[in-house]
Amino acid sequence: MKIGYIQFNPVFGEKETNFHTVEKITKGVKADLLVLPELFATGYTFNSKIEAEQMSEKQGEETTNFLQDLSSSTRAILVGGFIEKINNKIFNAALVVNEKQVIGIYEKVHLFYKEKLWFEPGNRGFQVWKFQNWNLGVMICFDWIFPESCRSLSLQGADIIAHPANLVLPYCQRSMITRSLENRVFTITANRFGKEHRGQDNFSFSGGSQITDPSGNVLISAEKNETKVDIVDIDPSVAHNKQMNEYNNLFKDRRNQYYFL
Ligand code: ACM
Repeated sequence: MKIGYIQFNPVFGEKETNFHTVEKITKGVKADLLVLPELFATGYTFNSKIEAEQMSEKQGEETTNFLQDLSSSTRAILVGGFIEKINNKIFNAALVVNEKQVIGIYEKVHLFYKEKLWFEPGNRGFQVWKFQNWNLGVMICFDWIFPESCRSLSLQGADIIAHPANLVLPYCQRSMITRSLENRVFTITANRFGKEHRGQDNFSFSGGSQITDPSGNVLISAEKNETKVDIVDIDPSVAHNKQMNEYNNLFKDRRNQYYFL
């Protein structure tokens, strides 16, 4: 199975430009699963809720259509971030699509910094979508700092965790190695790079997208500031096996009665 990430530097507020960039860099690419960054079409650093609302969309509108077209040309299942509008609420969300349909939507559970001023915290929970011989979980950016995110997805059977991101802290890439190892899953962190200076905020996004495997190896990673599509070949069934040795099973050995919730 071929899985990959698409790393680039989105231009704030310019959906068509960003769609065009992604289209250009994925020309000729074929894969089974491709992950784009968080909010890849809109950019990240909003100045107001109104501004974020103006770039929001319902499922089935332009970002959905773009991702479905990309799914058709790459033959991949696509995961990519968008601002989801439901009635008068907006969510920092990610679409999971194939060329025929929207397979699912994940709404970011753990909002970072001023996202709390514009977005509703996600209320669809951590979900896993089942395919022929592998299962997909999705989380978005800052969800990484809560190990419960990866654990919740893995306990539901996720073999691969797609992780669209706009990372501004320097720790995530290292943490995802541990998240992979402790859950024995593959992870795909698709991060953006570049800077956004808007209003009081001046963000530098860290690039360094990466794919990790159930043994905590980084299978491939991008540089900090490069436009890149990277694809690796994996066997997702490796993630089915949670047995570490003859005596230890990562999931069966958990002792819930001693964990504080
Ligand atoms: C983040 O969650 N985009 C830092």
